[in-house]
Amino acid sequence: MASLAKTMLLGLLGLAIALIAQVVLRRDSPTTSEVSQPYTCPPLSEAAALERFAGLISFPTVSNASSEDHVNDQKVFRDMVAYLARSYPRVWRRLKVEHVGRVGENELSLLITWTGSRPELPAVLFVSHYDVVPVTPGSEGEWTHPPFSGKIADGYVWGRGSLDIKFGVAGLLQAASVLLGGEGEEDVEEDVAVFRPERTLMFAFGHDEEVSGSHGAATIASLLRSRGVELDVVVDEGGAILEDGLRPFTSRAVAMVGTAEKGYTTVEVTLRAPGGHSSMPTTDGSDIAAQLWRLLGAVRRSTTPTRLQAPVTDMLTHVAPYTSGWMRLLLSGAERGGPIKWLLAQVFRRLGGRETAAMVANTLALTRVRGGVADNVLPQEAVLSFNGRLLPGSTPGELVEALKAAVKVAGVAAEVAEVKRIWECSVEKLFLAAATSGIWQF
Ligand SMILES: *[C@@H]1O[C@H](CO)[C@@H](O)[C@H](O)[C@H]1NC(C)=O
Ligand SMILES: [Zn+2]
Repeated sequence: MASLAKTMLLGLLGLAIALIAQVVLRRDSPTTSEVSQPYTCPPLSEAAALERFAGLISFPTVSNASSEDHVNDQKVFRDMVAYLARSYPRVWRRLKVEHVGRVGENELSLLITWTGSRPELPAVLFVSHYDVVPVTPGSEGEWTHPPFSGKIADGYVWGRGSLDIKFGVAGLLQAASVLLGGEGEEDVEEDVAVFRPERTLMFAFGHDEEVSGSHGAATIASLLRSRGVELDVVVDEGGAILEDGLRPFTSRAVAMVGTAEKGYTTVEVTLRAPGGHSSMPTTDGSDIAAQLWRLLGAVRRSTTPTRLQAPVTDMLTHVAPYTSGWMRLLLSGAERGGPIKWLLAQVFRRLGGRETAAMVANTLALTRVRGGVADNVLPQEAVLSFNGRLLPGSTPGELVEALKAAVKVAGVAAEVAEVKRIWECSVEKLFLAAATSGIWQF
């Protein structure tokens, strides 16, 4: 049965186990002869693992930036955590589970610590989150299965969070349960032989990642810092396993390992106009509508530079061996520079579609338009939010400058201000950023 979600869950589970095992085995094996015995996993019940995962989907754990505690309903989050404790009892019984959140609020994020046999070694942190984005009101009827049904049908697990990223939470807890000697309530026995990592492993599950992570992830990061915890590596959500390959490069299955996420900022442009009555609109182009028309045209015509750089070049270099003929030649040239690299960058920007275009340029997307107070009044103000995503090495200032230039070209009366810089991206800084800022988005 072709089943994306199932394959992904099992894939992730396998990956999680492999990663945990690999991280533990790879590191600090003093001599090759001293490598730990490979651990044989007890048999896994696929159906039960899927049911447990589907159960997570049924909790509408919607985070909300406008809400003071970043969530719509604390009870749903608490119920969901209780569900996790019931569903993965070995983890709760054998590992240290802490509820973390900002002081004065309910502690809705989770930090799980699996102390290694050599706790002096820097730890490994696996990050996920269990909050989800809201369902657009009115769109409920367009879902094949209701967004919080967690329905298993047609080879898929359906619902909000099935991909982003409750399956990360379920996959990690399932993997840990298996490594802790089995799954389910009935076989919890204290004396069963369990896998013991050398290096301490930690799971951090945030409850407000979709609205910045400033309550959950950031608090966990401060907690770790206050304890002097040193991390060897941070592993967070990344790309998917593309079963049909990465077209047009290869049709082999490709697991996308995210090593960076673009920087994130929002720039607001505030337009002003004299206003007036809608029965007599202005004719000199000073009204908000005319200014908008000119400004958006100017933004659309302005171009950001095309840059093919790491980590995209790394990805192409690694995909190259699995392609053939001219494609291999093309991709292997990604790192070398010169005309091949230039050509590749152009193909990505202009022919590949929106995914590849976004890999080689900073993007600027108009996401919100606010203005007007009544049907019959010309607005005196309109505020446009542009969300920008930045390549490593770019600064939010570049987008501010680009918008200021567009304002000038359009000849409109506007203020341009950066309102929300969440993070800047640089590949070199990634791990540092992950360990210190708590915004783990790469
Ligand atoms: C987010 O919270 C605000 C303030 O509590 C509320 O008005 C709004 O409806 C919430 N948004 C969603 C999508 O539930
Ligand atoms: Zn996510």
